[in-house]
Amino acid sequence: MFDLTGKRALVTGSTQGIGFEIARMLAEHGATVYIHGASNVQKCVSASNKIKGSTPVLANLLFVEEIDALYEKTGDVDILVLNASIQYKRKWDEFTLEEYEEQMNCNVRASYLLMKKYAEGMKAKGWGRIVALGSVNQYNQHPELSVYGATKAAQFKLVRNFAPILASYGITVNNVCPGAIETPRNEDVCSDPQKKAAVVAKIPCGRFGLPSDISPAVLLLCSDEGAYITGSEIVIDGGLSLK
Ligand SMILES: NC(=O)c1ccc[n+]([C@@H]2O[C@H](COP(=O)([O-])OP(=O)(O)OC[C@H]3O[C@@H](n4cnc5c(N)ncnc54)[C@H](OP(=O)(O)O)[C@@H]3O)[C@@H](O)[C@H]2O)c1
Repeated sequence: MFDLTGKRALVTGSTQGIGFEIARMLAEHGATVYIHGASNVQKCVSASNKIKGSTPVLANLLFVEEIDALYEKTGDVDILVLNASIQYKRKWDEFTLEEYEEQMNCNVRASYLLMKKYAEGMKAKGWGRIVALGSVNQYNQHPELSVYGATKAAQFKLVRNFAPILASYGITVNNVCPGAIETPRNEDVCSDPQKKAAVVAKIPCGRFGLPSDISPAVLLLCSDEGAYITGSEIVIDGGLSLK
């Protein structure tokens, strides 16, 4: 089960956190993986060195020309995991235009452009898997994550719309929606016992999630066994969105 031998995968934002764990798991199941980061060569190479057979590749997804260059470097892939994202925490009326645009451009525009670009090769092959990383903030209201939540809701709408269009080509398009996960992004909260306890108090399962709580669902969606799942979302949040 879940044999990805011969499949080529690009996991965006896989230098650390959830993306790294997804890349590691896909590679463990036979895929040849691209480890992708924004701009730090050493960080990207160092992450790639931890995953046998992987290749580091850099592209700042804020820039359309870098997205084009990314495709030129990787060529077609069978599996595209849209994991990279930018998040600014601000009160609703305190985002600068630049912060607003960075979140929109990385989390929505880049996802659209990457799906469009990589779907062509998948269509030609008659097989493809696209998985986007959403967030509970698509659903929950958060006083400082209004723009980020909006980007994840928009990205999910792209997933839902593209799934029926691409299904006849053997391509599935799905969302995986994490809750609060221990990654470098949440280091400020997780390293402060009081702040961490306040978040955990809202999670019915009683703990922060780990990247390894997310990767098995992505593996399922990327496998032949997941062929009949499309336009769906798997929420992995320990029940956080139920409160
Ligand atoms: N952690 C959570 O609690 C949580 C909850 C819900 C949803 N999510 C979602 O899950 C995904 C992974 O989250 P995470 O916490 O693992 O993230 P993370 O630790 O912040 O890592 C972000 C990754 O995205 C890359 N990245 C950032 N800006 C980029 C840009 N402009 N161009 C290209 N790559 C860029 C980073 O590359 P560099 O290393 O080169 O900067 C890094 O590899 C994200 O989509 C996030 O929104 C996370």
